[in-house]
Amino acid sequence: MKTRHFLTLLDLTPQELQQVIARATVLKAMRNSGEIYEPMKNKVLGMIFEKSSTRTRVSFEAGMAQLGGQAIFLSSRDTQLGRGEPVEDSARVISSMLDIIMIRTFEHEKLELFARYSKVPVINALTDDYHPCQLLADMQTYTEHRGSIAGKKVVWIGDGNNMCNSYINAARQLDFQLVVACPKGFEPDSTLCAANADRVTIVRTPQEAAKDADLIVTDVWASMGQEEEQKERMEKFVGYQVSPALMDLAHEDAIFMHCLPAHRGEEISEDMLDDPRSVVFDEAENRLHAQKALMEFLLPANNS
Ligand code: CP
Ligand code: NVA
Repeated sequence: MKTRHFLTLLDLTPQELQQVIARATVLKAMRNSGEIYEPMKNKVLGMIFEKSSTRTRVSFEAGMAQLGGQAIFLSSRDTQLGRGEPVEDSARVISSMLDIIMIRTFEHEKLELFARYSKVPVINALTDDYHPCQLLADMQTYTEHRGSIAGKKVVWIGDGNNMCNSYINAARQLDFQLVVACPKGFEPDSTLCAANADRVTIVRTPQEAAKDADLIVTDVWASMGQEEEQKERMEKFVGYQVSPALMDLAHEDAIFMHCLPAHRGEEISEDMLDDPRSVVFDEAENRLHAQKALMEFLLPANNS
């Protein structure tokens, strides 16, 4: 059987994505009812982190343990990867000992290279260009709160970053319209926008974008790796803050998401996370359930 990877949302068909998202909700109910489900006994997940993480690390590590398997945390500070061992060699060695691997790194190309040389499924746990695991959780969360996202208006406010690029892929795969409100020079990937011109619109003001939105999403103005641009970005993004007043322009049923960590007083107002329309903590918890469903999909019990 050919090894399947999850480097972007395009690695699964729309039907497979729907299947994983629906399964995540089932696994969540099973966990909430105390059911023990351990199809991954004797399986080991490798977790390679070259950037910081709270949610991704905890959800993958806890998720694998709950499925009966084990996880190994590999930081670039302590492995030979961090000292320049070629990705191709590392991938061949690490994947010969593990059953499934997740990687959080900078260049998306590095993840692709690792996957090319890996014998086992590789999951993108965030690169500079994409964050598809977060989208599984976001789509699960929208579905649980409001039903199908197909045909809805989703609004991205702020930086056209890795999360925004993944929202473009989600719009294509799950059939919704995406309106991006960002300052000039901070648009999402231009090739991706051009390939999805029927799905993605870019506007300049959050107020124009928010009108009739079903879901409003934002993220930090300076992502990991952009720390030196923080000050300049703070100036360029003035006016792009999501607040309850901005949410008032959206559809009356609209909800708000943020992948977290959030910066109150920057991309969101002090009170946005506590607004009744915010579902961010359900969204964060769903990382656990969505990634368990993803690992189950990529590593079926009989695929030993
Ligand atoms: N949303 C997210 O990926 O969070 P972490 O950086 O804490 O993993
Ligand atoms: N865009 C953010 C997401 C963090 C989960 C970053 O890349 O730092």
